[in-house]
Amino acid sequence: MTKISPSVLTADFLTLSDDLKKLEEAGVDMLHLDVMDGIFVPNISFGIPVISSIKKHTNLLCDVHLMIDKPHRYIKEFAKVSDYLGFHYEAGSPVKETLLEIRSYGVKSCLTIKPCTAPEEIFEYLPFCDMVLVMSVEPGFGGQKFMPEALDKLNALKNEIAKQNLNVLLEVDGGINADTAPLAVKAGADVLVAGNYIFSADDMAGRVQEIKNL
Ligand code: DX5
Ligand code: ZN
Repeated sequence: MTKISPSVLTADFLTLSDDLKKLEEAGVDMLHLDVMDGIFVPNISFGIPVISSIKKHTNLLCDVHLMIDKPHRYIKEFAKVSDYLGFHYEAGSPVKETLLEIRSYGVKSCLTIKPCTAPEEIFEYLPFCDMVLVMSVEPGFGGQKFMPEALDKLNALKNEIAKQNLNVLLEVDGGINADTAPLAVKAGADVLVAGNYIFSADDMAGRVQEIKNL
C-alpha cells in the first residue's frame, strides 16, 4: 500500500496537535517537515525547535526535507529530530559523505532532486540512500501544480533501484491530489507527500484514504 507523508507546511500550527491526532487515526505513515532557509529556496519556514515541539505531540515518523544551503553544516542537529532526513543534491554538500553521516546517527538517509536535475545524476549515490525524493514542483511553496515531467524521473529511478537490487523508497513531493497520486504511484512512487490537498480539507481522513488506497 502507498505510504502517505502529509506536509505541515500549510497547516495551522495553533491547531496542529488536533490535526496530528486525526492524521494518526487516518493511518498516515509519516509526517513531512519542510525546512527552508530563504537562500536555497525563496521562502523561510521553520527549524529544529518547531520540529522538536511537533515530536512531543505525535508518534508519527518525522520525514524531514531540508531545503537549505550546504546542509552538511546542520545534519548532526537535524538527525536528533528526524527518522528520515533528506537534503538536496543541488545544495552544495558532499553527497556521499552527507548521506553516510545521516546513516551514522541511525537515521534513514534521503537524497532529493529538484525538477531541473536528471535522475541519472544521482544513480551512483543510490546505494547510500534509504529514500529518494523527486520534487514534482519547484521547492519553496505549497499549493503548486504537479509537473508531469516527474513521472519519467520516478520511472527511471524505480528501474535503476531494481537494477542495482537496492531497498530504496521512492517519494514524490508537490501537487499531489486525487488526480496526480495514481499517476505517481503507477510511475513507481512508494511515498506520497501531500500538503494542501490534506490540510485544506474538512475531511482530512477521507483525503488520506483517497490517495492511500491506490
Ligand atoms: C514544497 C514542499 C512540499 C509542499 C507540498 O517545497 O517541499 O512538501 O509542502 O505541498 P503541496 O502538496 O501543497 O504541493
Ligand atoms: Zn517537501
